[in-house]
Amino acid sequence: MKVYAISDALFCIPIDVHTTELFEGIWPIPQGVSLNTYLVKGEKIALIDLVQDRHEASYHVEEALVSIGIDFSKIDYLVLNHLEPDHTGWLREFRERNPKAEIVATAKGVNLVKSFYKIDAGLRAVKDGESLDLGNGKSLTFFETPNIHWPETMVTWESSTGTLFSCDAFGSFGALGGRLFDDEFNETEHAFFEKETLRYYANIVASFSAFVEKGIQKISGLPITAIAPSHGMVWRRNVTAIIDRYLDYASYSKGLGKKEIALVWGSMYGNTRKGLDAVIKGIESEGVPYTIHQVPDDNISYILADVFKSAGIVIAAPTYEYAMFPPMAYAFDIFRRKHINHKTVLHIGSWGWVGGAKKEYEKAVADLKWNSLGSFEWVGSPTVKDLTDLEAQGRELAKAVKV
Ligand code: FEO
Repeated sequence: MKVYAISDALFCIPIDVHTTELFEGIWPIPQGVSLNTYLVKGEKIALIDLVQDRHEASYHVEEALVSIGIDFSKIDYLVLNHLEPDHTGWLREFRERNPKAEIVATAKGVNLVKSFYKIDAGLRAVKDGESLDLGNGKSLTFFETPNIHWPETMVTWESSTGTLFSCDAFGSFGALGGRLFDDEFNETEHAFFEKETLRYYANIVASFSAFVEKGIQKISGLPITAIAPSHGMVWRRNVTAIIDRYLDYASYSKGLGKKEIALVWGSMYGNTRKGLDAVIKGIESEGVPYTIHQVPDDNISYILADVFKSAGIVIAAPTYEYAMFPPMAYAFDIFRRKHINHKTVLHIGSWGWVGGAKKEYEKAVADLKWNSLGSFEWVGSPTVKDLTDLEAQGRELAKAVKV
């Protein structure tokens, strides 16, 4: 396992995890994810963030440490920016192998070390802004950044190199594939990671966008030369790119999405799909880009990412048993849980025996504070007039998104 030098005293050990297991038990990661552990060498040695205890990740970290002459007994501090088990699953074994290393976290983080791992000794709770001198000009300063991604989270700053160890913040899905730094990836690879960063943000962080803005404000005075997250690449050539990307994503939570439309549709026997095709014709006539996802076929992870980034939404689904088509109801539940607010939306759908979806839709969009342009329903298959009207509705939504 390769060890990457960020400087002569800072190292990164990125572990690529490829698995069919879902991230957090919910989100697919077909292109993998990296778990990055960092090492800072002063007179004392600090390890920053661990890995999970699966997929041989801990074995690879240990192997990498040995390759640079570090065995566990030499580690003086284990800094845990965040206690989610993708970064701490290996903690109990680490503690057994190195009983003397002091575990450093926020006060809330220390409580989680006790509750998750039943470790009660050798814990140091650090305050916001507190520093830890490692000697040889290396020191770590800790800044609380709650809810990026859970309440106990902090980031760690190494001032002599200007490196910010940000854990989940500025992270991404996607395995790194034998490279680490932003200047090592080509344009196509950056485009891939941009998509995977958006999906990671929408899936993992979107609920906490207000905290992302506060956290970025908090670090804005630091002369950052490298951002070293615990998922994804290390940014050293273009640090502002990933900060601006996260600020953009945070703004999507306020309704400032891209001038695009996300179409989410389901259809039992094709009648709603016919109506959707007319809406698409209207959208295309205005030249507004769109993405399209079918429920329940497409995974909610990808639907969430496109809905999160888009200013305009089309919800197309039939009535099912007097209510909303169940896979669409599930999608709305996820939008609500992830605080996907302030979208401009058009609802369409057919019904056969009796309606009901519209009522449920209207309640759902009110809860989400979405601006509904209307709910257009028809009985059975759409008439020629229905299709003409649906095309016009698509045009109106596209125009609203373009302004
Ligand atoms: Fe990568 Fe919230 O853990």
